[in-house]
Amino acid sequence: MNISIVGTGYVGLVTGTTLAELGNTVFCVDIDENKVERMKQGIVPIYEPGLEEMFLRNIQAKRLFFTTDIKEALDQSDVIYLALPTPPGGDGSADLSFVLSVANQIGEMITSYKVIVNKSTVPVGTADKVRAVISSKTDIPFDVVSNPEFLREGFAVKDSMNPSRVVVGSSSEKAKEIMAKIYQPFTNTGVPIIFMDEKSSELTKYAANSFLAVKITFMNEIANYCEKVGADVDKVRLGMGSDDRIGHRFLFPGIGYGGSCFPKDVKALIKSGHDEDFTFKILEATEEVNKKQKVILVDEIEKYFGTLKGKKIAMWGLAFKANTDDIREASSLDNIEILLEKGAQIVAYDAIAEDNVKKIVGDKIAYAPDMYTALEGADCLLIATEWSEFKNPNFELMAEKLNNKVIFDGRNMFSMEQVEDTGFYYKSIGRKTIG
Ligand SMILES: NC(=O)c1ccc[n+]([C@@H]2O[C@H](COP(=O)([O-])OP(=O)(O)OC[C@H]3O[C@@H](n4cnc5c(N)ncnc54)[C@H](O)[C@@H]3O)[C@@H](O)[C@H]2O)c1
Repeated sequence: MNISIVGTGYVGLVTGTTLAELGNTVFCVDIDENKVERMKQGIVPIYEPGLEEMFLRNIQAKRLFFTTDIKEALDQSDVIYLALPTPPGGDGSADLSFVLSVANQIGEMITSYKVIVNKSTVPVGTADKVRAVISSKTDIPFDVVSNPEFLREGFAVKDSMNPSRVVVGSSSEKAKEIMAKIYQPFTNTGVPIIFMDEKSSELTKYAANSFLAVKITFMNEIANYCEKVGADVDKVRLGMGSDDRIGHRFLFPGIGYGGSCFPKDVKALIKSGHDEDFTFKILEATEEVNKKQKVILVDEIEKYFGTLKGKKIAMWGLAFKANTDDIREASSLDNIEILLEKGAQIVAYDAIAEDNVKKIVGDKIAYAPDMYTALEGADCLLIATEWSEFKNPNFELMAEKLNNKVIFDGRNMFSMEQVEDTGFYYKSIGRKTIG
């Protein structure tokens, strides 16, 4: 099948590459000329493990193309995927301007039947809006399908090639048949394809992300309570997670969730609720708890030193989580902002996300070329991302480099046994403080 993907970011590029890998011819469209030029030269513009190999293979096989010209792509495609940004507007609602402006272009440009597949995360009712915009511009038949994306950055290729399920919201039998054909290589191996109406499909994505945000936040509150009563969240986590109704995943406490999805999707669902005179009390509480959780260690650092003025903090990790260069809503950024406000200096190390942070924070902080250089002359270490290179550090070398043997660990990177005899003061989340 010939497929266009409009919006070639994290979701669009991975989806496009996956669909090409499944044998389709895929035209990836983006308005960012620089990005398109780089992709044409065989450069993957994002950090995503495993993507480059598949990307290059499909370019070489002439199944994957890049263009800024949407008309050129649409003319050659039967199916048009939208993987456009839906960032939070001022009031928290999902900003649909990217999606609706492309819908407008599609309405103006199509000359034959198309299926428009929305992969962006959008509020209930968006398929109807997209349909209305396109219908206002053309009499050519078309169908709009909701096909939310569940990939995780850092595991995007794996998730995209081995999805747990494919959700398709559509009221058109013809469109459903086309979607079933596209995903046949997955359903053939037992992956369920779940058909439903567009509204239920749109809500499925928000419900899934919000549930995960609640799960993380619930565990963060349990962790904070553990500290009050002297319980160990690692033990509680294992004890709880062994119940298969609960499961072990998303029970790891830390300095809050960030990223391009959970914060914006929780906000958007709250706002969608308000629009219907409905209050998502759980989500409002989740947002409030997470906001505090992201910077919970700043108070601890301040308490430890008395003041943050003039203190030099080494920060390991800047990405919102490991295995990605994405820094959208990263806890590191909240910590940087408050620490700087309170007069601290920061030297950060993140081999993958540094460039993206530089674009926002610039030289307000210093950047180190490796994890140990970041520690030189610093008063303490703050860990903000769970990169695996931090898991087994050389504590002796750390002690040599740091002014004080003090670690604030926002991602519970080390076991208590690892730190116990090192002489370090070690404050993590939901566990006893050592030292
Ligand atoms: N990133 C994730 O992990 C993830 C997972 C599931 C769902 N989603 C959802 O998928 C959607 C896309 O997210 P993303 O992270 O890929 O965003 P992104 O910002 O990485 O990519 C969006 C791309 O769209 C391009 N674009 C903007 N306007 C355009 C236009 N008019 N024509 C063509 N291209 C245009 C941008 O240049 C950018 O390259 C969002 O709704 C998001 O919530 C994201």
